[in-house]
Amino acid sequence: MTSISNYISQIESELRDTKFPKNPANLYDPLRYFFDLGGKRLRPALTLMTAENFGSKGKSALHAAMAIELFHNFSLIHDDIMDEAPFRRGKETVHTKWNNHIAILSGDVLFVKAFESLAKCEAKYLSDLLNLFNKTATEVCEGQQMDMDFETRETVTEDEYIEMIRLKTSVLLGCAIQFGAIVSELDSQFQKDLYDFGQYIGIAFQIKDDLLDLYGDPEKVGKQLGGDVICGKKTMLSIKAREYGCTTDQIHPVSSAESLVARAQEEFFKCGAKEYVEDRMVYYYKKALNCLSRLPSEQRKVFEDFSAYLIYRIH
Ligand code: IPE
Ligand code: IPE
Ligand code: MG
Ligand code: MG
Ligand code: MG
Repeated sequence: MTSISNYISQIESELRDTKFPKNPANLYDPLRYFFDLGGKRLRPALTLMTAENFGSKGKSALHAAMAIELFHNFSLIHDDIMDEAPFRRGKETVHTKWNNHIAILSGDVLFVKAFESLAKCEAKYLSDLLNLFNKTATEVCEGQQMDMDFETRETVTEDEYIEMIRLKTSVLLGCAIQFGAIVSELDSQFQKDLYDFGQYIGIAFQIKDDLLDLYGDPEKVGKQLGGDVICGKKTMLSIKAREYGCTTDQIHPVSSAESLVARAQEEFFKCGAKEYVEDRMVYYYKKALNCLSRLPSEQRKVFEDFSAYLIYRIH
């Protein structure tokens, strides 16, 4: 079995070979900059891992994996504008280093590059891949809009939050895995099992992202510590803290962003919200593993190992 780092290296090498034109520099320099910052490359690794474990031949898996990573990077560049995020992958975000207009347009061209990569897949898979990709990209936009709408809503339920993260994050993990299943010509039941696994592990992944946002080491995470609290995001942490009687409104009157974040860290811990959220993350992680029951044990083990890697990550 190929190790995760091997799949990641394959993607890194393919990304290095992806050359953008020199001009207009303000369109392509941000993309060169963004790809040089690295990234975990987890989604394309999932596509390659699935494809290899189910016997896919040829280069369709690599092109499909690249489409996923290009799309993901496009979504991050736009997400950082929406979240007014100063840092990403340890460096300035594109809209901070350049400006919003440049970040919008370089994001747009990356979105097109994703389709260009997908179009290189073998013709017999194209219709299935494209249908899934279009559905997924639409859902990511829906989730991102819900995420923004929730910022100004006073209350959001846990179920609404889960649906929002399913759309903004999980469907792309599901899509990445199902891409691997499509190019391996798996039957529809296996494809569904793997997609469902991807969705549940994606929910756990986003819950972990929310935890790292407030409790991670910013040096390792590469993002502004407490960015979610600063912009009033509804995360499971803030939703649960409110339910436990500790509201961010109580925290808000403090002066600086740093003290707001420090207070949220402490209050969300003291009221039990942090522990609750960690338990829910494990709940979705287990739900994901349950979707693998029909898989042969050798393949199941590969997905189980990857899941643990996603959940116990520190960045
Ligand atoms: C960040 O994804 C956006 C989320 C959906 C949480 P990653 O944590 O995979 O970001 P990179 O690609 O490794 O930077
Ligand atoms: C981002 O969610 C999801 C998408 C980019 C679609 P977040 O806003 O939580 O991601 P980070 O924390 O900025 O990476
Ligand atoms: Mg966001
Ligand atoms: Mg963000
Ligand atoms: Mg986040």
